[in-house]
Amino acid sequence: MRRRLAAGNWKMNGTGAALAEVTALSGGHPNPQVDILICPPATLIQRMAEVARGTAIAVGGQDCHKARTGAHTGDVSAHMLHEAGASHVILGHSERRTDHGETDATVRAKTEAALDEKLVAIVCVGETETQRDAGETLSVIGTQLQGSLPDHGVNGATIVIAYEPVWAIGTGRVPTLDQIAEVHDFIRAGLVDRFGEDAQGIRLLYGGSVKPANAADIFAISNVDGALVGGASLKAVDFSAIISALE
Ligand code: G3P
Repeated sequence: MRRRLAAGNWKMNGTGAALAEVTALSGGHPNPQVDILICPPATLIQRMAEVARGTAIAVGGQDCHKARTGAHTGDVSAHMLHEAGASHVILGHSERRTDHGETDATVRAKTEAALDEKLVAIVCVGETETQRDAGETLSVIGTQLQGSLPDHGVNGATIVIAYEPVWAIGTGRVPTLDQIAEVHDFIRAGLVDRFGEDAQGIRLLYGGSVKPANAADIFAISNVDGALVGGASLKAVDFSAIISALE
């Protein structure tokens, strides 16, 4: 039985004042059956971890370098995230792949670094609209998964997969429920094929314009174990409603 996970990706949003949202969310914790994670900008991780201590809310990073330390200006390592209080890290988000040229090999190296630091890696995959229109969705996802995951140490305690169609991120557009189900079933089958029955424990999140209004329908799909939420995770009132939909 996989516990459900509601993960918020704040992206490059939030300064100190936004920590009040974490306090509000923990105060009105709507569903103790659901794991809750917020991934703020790196500048807020330590403070958020302090605010969230003793609550049901975990804190994560949005990226890490593959190296533990060294001459990498502007980067943050998995080791540093862990020390700041993070338990998870999002890796291979399409915005990283696009804005920073991250390849599957980059994501794999970062994932290995995260696992070395005992961080749970949330590895993101997803097709562009052009790829979907060309009928390439499953092959794109299959290639990303194959290249982005290490060969060893992959199981439900170490890895979460997030399926985020690029065209659904921040657009208000969402795939049909059948399209989401098709991709999630494909991911599950691919993971089990590669990693064996242990992969049944890996949680699969859907991400891309998840809102309180559409969350319940998306969460009713088998093989959807939760969501990676962008815009609607910024306000406690919206994120609470999404968490409540994960019954
Ligand atoms: O990682 C979450 C994300 O890319 C989805 O963003 O704003 O469409 O929920 P949003």
